Amino acid sequence: MGRIALGALGALAFGAASAAWAADKPDWAFPVTDKVQPTMVPDDGKPKTAPGSSRSYTRAQIEDLYNPPDWYPDQHPAMPTVVSNGRAPEIRACIACHLPTGTGHTESANMAGLPAAYLMQQVEDYKTGARKGSGSMLAIAKAITPEENKAAADYFASLKPRVWIRVMETDTVLKTYVAAGNKRAIHPDHVFEPLANRIIEVGENENRLFNRDPGSGFVAFVPKGSVAKGKALVEAGGAQACASCHGEGNKGTKDLPGLAGRTPTYIVRQLFMIQNGERAGMNVEPMKAIVAKLTVDDMLNVAAYLGSLEP
Ligand code: HEC
Ligand code: HEC
Repeated sequence: MGRIALGALGALAFGAASAAWAADKPDWAFPVTDKVQPTMVPDDGKPKTAPGSSRSYTRAQIEDLYNPPDWYPDQHPAMPTVVSNGRAPEIRACIACHLPTGTGHTESANMAGLPAAYLMQQVEDYKTGARKGSGSMLAIAKAITPEENKAAADYFASLKPRVWIRVMETDTVLKTYVAAGNKRAIHPDHVFEPLANRIIEVGENENRLFNRDPGSGFVAFVPKGSVAKGKALVEAGGAQACASCHGEGNKGTKDLPGLAGRTPTYIVRQLFMIQNGERAGMNVEPMKAIVAKLTVDDMLNVAAYLGSLEP
């Protein structure tokens, strides 16, 4: 594991330093479970708990993607079945990845409070193939009925956006690896490495992250100076500034998704995929001119700034 990870990160740091490679895929924003995993202490089989919750779940229950945990049932509206349990075999419960709060994990999407029509159209775009994405989202989009799609979209649209990620500028980060489910985690070696031109996001509390506990969010480590550079880019262009479409404070409008306080690597993935045509959904046209001239470093800076804003 050690050697493989270091090799990959070394190549990445080199690529990021070279302007000619600016359009290269930023692998740090697209986490894929490492083939070789570090040796971990095996699970003790005991039920896990969450602060302030009276519920407990075993690891096997937490990993049941058709009945994942709902730690705080009094903190969200009643969930439609498709959201809480999905519909086997193709449709996994939305909350397994997006959580009952809609805030999601960094490899999925924070959808709390996004417009319902926007969310429904994204699932349609996955279905037609216009928007590429994870295998599970594509399978879900193919199988979901319009009624289920609407019920899920209405649920996530009804949730309150909340502060979910803390953006922190730094030069170094603890070495990470990508665990099962494309989830980034701190490597048990506990050694620091240069952040370089990357954004690295980890759970504020890794146990709570792996327990799918929506009571604990994420920290995004971003390069020094990136937030200020991103602010300049987001506010540039006057009438074409991001907020001219994405609403005051980039908090979204009744039609368009908010960007403020969203997961920075998610933002980078979207800008990158819109630029290279992997995200070419029905309503994406106005975004194409916006992303056309962005380098990956610009995307990183924009995402660092947007992530630092109050949602
Ligand atoms: C196994 C994990 C998983 C499950 C289960 C899951 N999703 Fe997703 N979802 C993702 C990932 C990953 C993305 C895309 C992230 C990206 O493009 O960077 C995503 C993205 C989305 C988006 C796009 C959000 C946006 O802002 O454009 C929508 C809408 C969505 N999911 C709806 C659903 C619904 C509805 C369900 C339940 C029926 C569901 N998802 C279940 C992993 C999941
Ligand atoms: C002319 C209007 C317009 C402007 C200006 C604009 N956007 Fe967008 N943006 C859109 C539209 C429309 C969508 C929805 C696309 C879709 O439905 O697929 C979108 C979607 C997005 C998404 C995907 C959100 C999600 O939940 O997946 C991101 C990220 C984004 N825009 C970032 C930006 C940034 C950063 C800027 C400024 C640099 C910006 N946009 C400026 C119109 C605009």
